[in-house]
Amino acid sequence: MLNPRLPAIWYGADYNPEQWPEAVWAEDVRLIQRAAMNCATIGVFSWVLLQPGPDRWDFGWFDRVIEGLAGGGLSVILATPTAAPPAWLCRAHPEILPVDAGGRRLWWGSRRHYCPNSPAYREAAREIACRLAERYGAHPSVVLWHIDNEYGKVCYCDQCATAFRSWLQDRYGSLPALNDAWRTAFWSQAYDDWEEILPPRATPSFHNPGQVLDFRRFVSDSYLGCFLEQKAVIRDHSPQVPVTTNFMGWFKGADYWSWAPHLDVISWDSYPPPGAPPYLPAAWHDLMRSLKRQPFLLMEQSPSQVNWMPCNRPHPPGALRLQSMQTLARGADGICYFQFRQSSGGPEQFHAGIVPHAGAERSRVFAEVAELGAQLHSLGSRTTGAEIRARVAIVFDWASWWAMEQPPMITAELSYREEILRYYRAFWSLNVAVDFVRPTDPLDRYAMVVAPVLRIVTEEIAGNFERFVRGGGALLLTFGSGLTDGNDRAHLGGYPGLLRELFGIWIEELDPLCDDAAEQAGGTVGECTCRRWCDAIHLEGATALATYRSGFCAGLPAITEHRCGEGKALYIGTAPDDAALAALLAGYAAPLDITAPLQVPSGVEAVQRWSGGQPLTWVLNHTRDEATIRLPEPVRDLLTGRDLAGDVQLASQDALLLGSLED
Ligand code: GAL
Repeated sequence: MLNPRLPAIWYGADYNPEQWPEAVWAEDVRLIQRAAMNCATIGVFSWVLLQPGPDRWDFGWFDRVIEGLAGGGLSVILATPTAAPPAWLCRAHPEILPVDAGGRRLWWGSRRHYCPNSPAYREAAREIACRLAERYGAHPSVVLWHIDNEYGKVCYCDQCATAFRSWLQDRYGSLPALNDAWRTAFWSQAYDDWEEILPPRATPSFHNPGQVLDFRRFVSDSYLGCFLEQKAVIRDHSPQVPVTTNFMGWFKGADYWSWAPHLDVISWDSYPPPGAPPYLPAAWHDLMRSLKRQPFLLMEQSPSQVNWMPCNRPHPPGALRLQSMQTLARGADGICYFQFRQSSGGPEQFHAGIVPHAGAERSRVFAEVAELGAQLHSLGSRTTGAEIRARVAIVFDWASWWAMEQPPMITAELSYREEILRYYRAFWSLNVAVDFVRPTDPLDRYAMVVAPVLRIVTEEIAGNFERFVRGGGALLLTFGSGLTDGNDRAHLGGYPGLLRELFGIWIEELDPLCDDAAEQAGGTVGECTCRRWCDAIHLEGATALATYRSGFCAGLPAITEHRCGEGKALYIGTAPDDAALAALLAGYAAPLDITAPLQVPSGVEAVQRWSGGQPLTWVLNHTRDEATIRLPEPVRDLLTGRDLAGDVQLASQDALLLGSLED
């Protein structure tokens, strides 16, 4: 449960009454109620209205907004407005403004125009967070603190340079240690004075990869520092109310694993592009749920059109409900939107709102939002807190992502996210539940762990993997793994470095395939088309399950298996085609009893959460056609209250939520 004060599925929206005359506010509350919502997020960008000048505060209008919502029985998600510092603050302290890699200062007049290491910014942000917490921290309607908004833009200013140096001093202690970590002997980069070290600003040629990797860690930590400072002052005045900030899914700018322990609730903003395959938001949600292995809050989704994508199509009828059901199925305990009333001006005026420019009365979008609200309301707290029991995990590692995509890349055609998705998609098509983990997490709750393109492997990771395999786990590693250490320095003696022995192989050469080039491989696991990359593998105890039939690596193993202790270490030296990969994974999953909750036709998603020892199974028809769902036993559809048995027809874009007949 996100907060016992609101023991239901949270359903709400970013609500920005400051954009409207006060006369509209009462009508807003009525419309929020009519949409069957139970909460609203306020204050996300209200800084200048709450603090119009250095020592001027105006909370009167905000009091009235909160009282209006509370009077309507609505809960409040209270944001700190620190993602958009007011112009007066930027004028008084221009050093607040961020600087890009080329040394250009960015101006106010938009949002996110601040440097996370600016003392003046931090002080001002702490102060407004403190004032809000003092005033509203004990308000009975406040159910969640929402700090800032979508942290993560990069700044390269002198304040960041100073903070980066002290971060490096903490990490390395001495310059010789730093020079060794970054291998600065190359290209005459050695440092003799801490003051010589800079953020990786624009340079004529490639950056030092160790420096970039550390800078990315530092940027993530810098924003975490901003978050923690606000959280601390909020806690002082509002100890009972959980705290979050809205994440951005698979966002490269911050290592969310390191943030997760500091958030009481994971919340995030999901904006799948029009026509996105359904496994994509499923994968995003699964990572967000996995960050704390607990239900999350979808803080923002669009009720329809999004105005910042290259092509901003409206959601077709039914799409919103289906995507919202998928969000619940994948572990959400709440669903909120950006934004309630579509703006009448400003950069997002053509971004959909629940109440569109034409008004709520004749709006398809409003009607769909309200219908969904009524359905969620009817579920009460039936699904909240329900857990997903995954027996498969995929390793998601920000450091490997950063290092793998840092120019000069082994191949510029490689996308870390795409390689993760290749495996995710295969499990999604089998309807097998997946958690994401970091490589150092305990793995014993899983039967199978997949680590795609895990470039960085440390002693700690190697030990963790070995324990997992010896204990009986099936570990699958792919090409591009075990190449470097925690500072992105190459492992010597053959890849995958510290994992050579566990996998019983060594890799002599890496052959990335360009464009759409393909090679063939085959063996006991069947035939497969290989794209993206071929590792030149030599066996050192492992068995070849497939051998390259063509290309530079012809005759060498492409897929290998090594038995070790009670478990198996499987290495895939290429990117197999989807069908071959699904067959390979299914072959490993079956003996481990890794199964789908329900057999459904292709394109239909079946996901299970567990509540009080009882399964709740969502069935989501993403196809354009009606699908036949074969039910092994009688069940109740909790969305309609109908009892179902045998073969059930499920319309395109429709969903079922199957519970027991006693539900
Ligand atoms: C989010 C942001 C919101 C709004 C929304 C529009 O990323 O947090 O403030 O801009 O996008 O889609």
